[in-house]
Amino acid sequence: MINANQNILFTATILALCVISFVHVFLFPLYDINAKHTTVKRYADFEQRICKGNIKRRVVFKHRRCPQQGIVTVEQGGRLGNQMWAYASVWAIGRRTGLETYVPQCIRAELDKVFDVLSVPSFEEIGHCELNRFVRSVDSWNYTNQSIILKKYTMELEIVLSWVQDIIQEFSFRRALLVRSQKLLREASKGKSGSVFVGIHVRRTDYIGYLQRKLHINAVGMGFYRKAMGYFLNKYKNVTFIVVSDDPGWCQAHFKSYDNVYIASEKNKAADDLAILASCNHTIFDYGTFGTWGAILAGGETVCYNLTHHISTKIVQILPNWHLMK
Ligand SMILES: *[C@@H]1O[C@H](CO)[C@@H](O)[C@H](O)[C@H]1NC(C)=O
Ligand SMILES: *[C@@H]1O[C@H](CO)[C@@H](O)[C@H](O)[C@H]1NC(C)=O
Ligand SMILES: *[C@@H]1O[C@H](CO)[C@@H](O)[C@H](O)[C@H]1NC(C)=O
Ligand SMILES: *[C@@H]1O[C@H](CO)[C@@H](O)[C@H](O)[C@H]1NC(C)=O
Ligand SMILES: *[C@@H]1O[C@H](CO)[C@@H](O)[C@H](O)[C@H]1NC(C)=O
Repeated sequence: MINANQNILFTATILALCVISFVHVFLFPLYDINAKHTTVKRYADFEQRICKGNIKRRVVFKHRRCPQQGIVTVEQGGRLGNQMWAYASVWAIGRRTGLETYVPQCIRAELDKVFDVLSVPSFEEIGHCELNRFVRSVDSWNYTNQSIILKKYTMELEIVLSWVQDIIQEFSFRRALLVRSQKLLREASKGKSGSVFVGIHVRRTDYIGYLQRKLHINAVGMGFYRKAMGYFLNKYKNVTFIVVSDDPGWCQAHFKSYDNVYIASEKNKAADDLAILASCNHTIFDYGTFGTWGAILAGGETVCYNLTHHISTKIVQILPNWHLMK
């Protein structure tokens, strides 16, 4: 009897120790990750850390009250497409959980160049407040007094796309970008009336290496774009295809025989390319987060490459007007 009790006590002690170290290692990694000299205690420190110290000094409004409940935020990572997912994930999880939402200044600064009136603020006003307990995903979140700090490259597809019309509203382009993209579409359709615009995003450069390394496949060739274009040509009388790409030279060479194709990415910035895709009525894209956002914001019918495990294979299950093609 005594032996059995001792065993139970021993097992319980070991289990408790395991739980304690688990909590320390996995639930509070931010205190260790990158924290070489200082400890992250306030939101200002957190923001400084994830923005790699690369943020402007600014006034801290010390009188602003601190959040009474947990907050939702995210680490920065990747380029425009990834940061849009990061922002949208915070926005959507805030809506789902009722928590206050914040994004690091470096993400806001990047998105403010492209979009007009984003609703999720940076930490400016609560920089002096202390971080409370946090988890790293909405799945492990269990009470309102707990914050959620999403990892970089987070994409909360289902939650974001359950409010797809609202996220399209949230990502409203700056006026100058809209004006430029509309002008370009008029130019591309050569004044033809009643033209349907289909944006094509061709992702190449560094993504080709990524596909080969990670998935052991080659970048898609003209076969995919041709087939996808055929789909829209069968459906509409007058189609103007607008090609944007990180490799406009390749597109010039490969689409030159089509007189209904306009190559838009001569020396455009990413923001212009995204606004152009979003201004089109429908979308064709191969893969990548940039094309994914172009298609979501265009809000029309989308044909994308059937790439196993890519987010587009999940989106086709959520958005009815998305199709896979190979
Ligand atoms: C809530 O989450 C925290 C941290 O993940 C955990 O320690 C705690 O036991 C959970 N509480 C409940 C009621 O599930
Ligand atoms: C929430 O957490 C803060 C600090 O972490 C604490 O002061 C407060 O009492 C907590 N509130 C509830 C309702 O648990
Ligand atoms: C298609 O464009 C041609 C001129 O390019 C025009 O004559 C014709 O009416 C257009 N058709 C439709 C359905 O808009
Ligand atoms: C197609 O896109 C053009 C350019 O943005 C827009 O003017 C037009 O209203 C759109 N057509 C439809 C049917 O949405
Ligand atoms: C996409 O590819 C997968 C795997 O190759 C296949 O099982 C699936 O049927 C394809 N889907 C479509 C819509 O072609």
